[in-house]
Amino acid sequence: MTPPDDPTAWTRDIIARDRRHVWHPFTQHQTEVEPIVLTRAKDASLFDADSKEILDLISSWWTCTHGHSHPKLNEALARQAENFEHVMFAGFTHQPAVDLATALARLLPGDLNRVFYSDDGSTAVEVALKIAYQHWVNCGDSRRRVLLAFDGGYHGDTLGAMSLGRGSGFFSVFRDLMANVCVLPFPCTFEDDDAVEGREAGALSGCEALLTERGQEIAALIIEPLLQGAGGMRICRPSFLKRLVELAQGAGIVVIFDEVATGFGRTGTLFAMEQADVVPDLVCLSKGLTAGYMPMAVTVARDALFESFLDDSFDRALPHGHSFTANPLACAVGLRSLALFEEENTLARIAGINARHREMLTVLSSRDDLVRARVLGSILAVDVKDAGAYQSAKSLTLKAWYLSQGLNIRPLGQTLYLMPPYCITDEELTRAYAGLMEGVDRFSR
Ligand SMILES: Cc1ncc(COP(=O)(O)O)c(C=O)c1O
Repeated sequence: MTPPDDPTAWTRDIIARDRRHVWHPFTQHQTEVEPIVLTRAKDASLFDADSKEILDLISSWWTCTHGHSHPKLNEALARQAENFEHVMFAGFTHQPAVDLATALARLLPGDLNRVFYSDDGSTAVEVALKIAYQHWVNCGDSRRRVLLAFDGGYHGDTLGAMSLGRGSGFFSVFRDLMANVCVLPFPCTFEDDDAVEGREAGALSGCEALLTERGQEIAALIIEPLLQGAGGMRICRPSFLKRLVELAQGAGIVVIFDEVATGFGRTGTLFAMEQADVVPDLVCLSKGLTAGYMPMAVTVARDALFESFLDDSFDRALPHGHSFTANPLACAVGLRSLALFEEENTLARIAGINARHREMLTVLSSRDDLVRARVLGSILAVDVKDAGAYQSAKSLTLKAWYLSQGLNIRPLGQTLYLMPPYCITDEELTRAYAGLMEGVDRFSR
């Protein structure tokens, strides 16, 4: 984009028309401060019309993995656009979709081989729910209507996904429309936590009791493996995850891993499930799937689940699909992003970010106004004492202050966190930590 001649007038015009015509996500328009108008993004930075830099320390809602406007991803997108931009995906197929599905099946453990394409994290979860429910119906068991999910979990904002995320507290206005979900306690942990084993035992025995009492009614269990994102960057241990999956799969329940946020390196491994050494029955991926370039998601199923949909009649087929399913531009950029993990040794970069984050743990843990410091992969999080809930006045003030300092850090209620793109440099991380702490100093006063 060519820079506007008069950046101030140009920005005012965009904001005025935005205010008149646009409805933003998760936004109270009556009280929200003016949005920032971006003109450009490169690597870990965003720029406005005056070329003011903002470090994107939450990777634009956790989507941007390799950095903004990566030349190799740009090239893959442009090359695919020259071939063709889109085609319906029933009765047609194309190489980008088949190549990406093949690559994902190769990278995922076990027999997670069957890739269903959709458009965003919420729909990937809806598809998983429908597959789990219909699997039981196809097997002749239509009693299984109960879903198990975790307190503080977030799985998106379509109806089924909201039901699963009822424990997040975001969606109480819709509670009368929600599906039948039992919410289990999530045994989150942090640095120097000596009570985690008790919490894990409680969560596992609660799950076991439900399986014993209502096992024949339960269709599926869903969890964000290792990290609840929107619920406040809450971490659980791989050993808990492993025991949970063994328990649920031992009882014959379909286990869904929502790796929409954790997938593609965020927790230090390509997928969080690798750290627990388990294979769920279904996995949902989005966000980093296209390195943050295009809206796309997949729900990947184990072979046996897919086979329960095979029949001579359409009745057993999955009645689901979107206009933009398996968009070739998104598939091409997703495939190129996977190759970049090898070419740029991305997991080693993430390990480098993790080492820097770990150095910060000592700083965070030494303060009285901060609690529950934690690090997982590329994520650093800590809770501010008495900071209030999501969108509290204090958290909004802090968000605005960080932005004024050129840092895109958005507190999740009391939780402050960094989840940068993997290309972030050492100098940028130093700047991020210094800004983070300065904000805490002002905030705690
Ligand atoms: C774990 C998880 N699942 C699902 C979603 C929903 O994804 P989307 O916003 O792309 O619909 C999110 C979004 O933050 C998420 O963190």
